[in-house]
Amino acid sequence: MPAEDLVPEIVGISPKIKALKQQVRQVAAADYPVLILGESGAGKEVVARAIHRHSARAASPFVGQSCLAIPETLIESELFGHEPGAFTDARERRIGLFEQAQGGSLFLDEIGDIPLGFQKRLLRVLQEREVRRLGGTEATAINVRIMAATNAPIEQLVAQGAFRSDLLYRLNTFEVRVPALRQRVEDIPLLIDHFLKKHGVAYKMTNVAPPPPPMMEKLRAYPWPGNVRELENFVVRWMTLGEEALDVLDRKATYHLEPQDANRRWLSMTLEEIEAEVIKMVLEDCSHNKTLAAKRLGLARKSLYNKLERYGIKEVEKRN
Ligand SMILES: Nc1ncnc2c1ncn2[C@@H]1O[C@H](COP(=O)(O)OP(=O)(O)OP(=O)(O)O)[C@@H](O)[C@H]1O
Ligand SMILES: [Mg+2]
Repeated sequence: MPAEDLVPEIVGISPKIKALKQQVRQVAAADYPVLILGESGAGKEVVARAIHRHSARAASPFVGQSCLAIPETLIESELFGHEPGAFTDARERRIGLFEQAQGGSLFLDEIGDIPLGFQKRLLRVLQEREVRRLGGTEATAINVRIMAATNAPIEQLVAQGAFRSDLLYRLNTFEVRVPALRQRVEDIPLLIDHFLKKHGVAYKMTNVAPPPPPMMEKLRAYPWPGNVRELENFVVRWMTLGEEALDVLDRKATYHLEPQDANRRWLSMTLEEIEAEVIKMVLEDCSHNKTLAAKRLGLARKSLYNKLERYGIKEVEKRN
């Protein structure tokens, strides 16, 4: 079977998307927790749904919940449910999302946002495979596959103490990385066709042609900070405004020029020059504490010293 047919709900033909489809199929075949990482709008939920649909749990529910900025008490009753009288407003019994997802998959989006106190409770549920409703006494066994997603730098949150490492290790048996749209611009024409069809039906505008080649070039060059979601919004504007839709991108492109140019600077440097520069930046960031810097760089202290010497990073040596 050609790779592009493996997971038809994920639109794309780039090598990165083909690899992602293969991974989705592999991960779907196993029944372990999955952590889905990727920038905002890159398609993390699309991937989670695809994993569910290709798994043995496909006939059971897929239940999703965004954990973004939900207060701790509310997220508990959302996920675990509550009994009448568990708190002031709890008049009736509420079945939590874990129980609603019974037999299926529970997708916890923006997992990087859950409060520390709740992380401990969630970890316990994952270990014991049972939930207790708030105000309830009996535990209910749960058979749910957990998928979590975040666009936050989760390892960094762990390093800062904002995310429990034991919870991360529970969640990331599999790690799926969804590539940013600017890393797979070959997919843009196909995605545009897909969204023209999708919204053409919804807006009763089924005959809109895709942007012509010179415009397509502009779309490939644009960095798409909002990824596929931003492209989808562009297509909707294109359908209604035509060429004017590009003006919004032109305006946005100017805000994004700077970071992009800064990134491109690396392209004219050798790997050794880049390594030397990164070491200097990390040292600076660690207030020249070499033990910490070595740890962050994944180096033994001795290797860091060797590199400092090789690259002649002397000025930093003196300041220590
Ligand atoms: N490969 C794809 N094929 C088809 N549609 C896609 C693809 N990737 C993303 N989309 C569409 O783009 C939009 C954003 O995708 P999705 O919600 O999965 O992103 P996300 O990574 O979860 O975003 P956020 O970080 O904001 O939660 C959705 O409308 C989705 O249907
Ligand atoms: Mg999402």
